[in-house]
Amino acid sequence: MPSEEAHGKEVLMINNILYIDSCVRQNSRTRRLARHLLGKLEGRITTINLDEKRLSPHTCISLPERDSLISVCDFSSEYFNTAKEFANADTIVIAAPYWDMSFPASLKIYIENIMVQGITFGYTEDGQPLGLCKAKELFYVSTAGGPVVPHNEGYEYIKGLANIYWGIEKTHIFQAESLDIVGADVEAILAKTMHEIDVAMAK
Ligand SMILES: Cc1cc2nc3c(=O)[nH]c(=O)nc-3n(C[C@H](O)[C@H](O)[C@H](O)COP(=O)(O)O)c2cc1C
Repeated sequence: MPSEEAHGKEVLMINNILYIDSCVRQNSRTRRLARHLLGKLEGRITTINLDEKRLSPHTCISLPERDSLISVCDFSSEYFNTAKEFANADTIVIAAPYWDMSFPASLKIYIENIMVQGITFGYTEDGQPLGLCKAKELFYVSTAGGPVVPHNEGYEYIKGLANIYWGIEKTHIFQAESLDIVGADVEAILAKTMHEIDVAMAK
């Protein structure tokens, strides 16, 4: 657990972990892997279950309202709490099944909600994106029914956002593939990914 010196006393800093769960199935294998990873992280976990939370996508009514608040940096509305929570987390864990070569739509809607200029990102004077998020690391956990080729587009997209817009430099993916192939040894495939998590997190 991180600590720092303040006035000669050691102050324990709590690692605030934000766990974004976009899994839908009751016996989700992705969620199982994500929970295994969470068991390896020290800190206080806040869970957002996107299936339960049912965030709204932008609409012709909500978008101009939101834009007008952002333009005057008025973030007092409850609407901005989701973005603030994301910006203030120390570690982000995303559980996202591999759907249609990326991830469930609920995760895209979540991203629409947290992409708030002035909270999660800004721009430099010369117009370059500037990350405003506190997190140092983001973990992306996924499972796929078939092989993931050539790479997980969902993760690549999240990695791009993390690096370019959120200011989160370190991103990691843990994924299990080919779980729905006839004859697949699902438990063995999941155990292999859990072992990869154990090895990576022991470093
Ligand atoms: C709506 C939907 C879309 C899917 N799209 C893909 C896909 O593009 N490629 C693939 O390999 N598997 C695909 N699958 C299979 C899932 O990736 C696989 O079953 C995964 O393990 C589901 O994760 P879960 O057990 O956490 O629900 C899809 C499944 C669903 C329900």
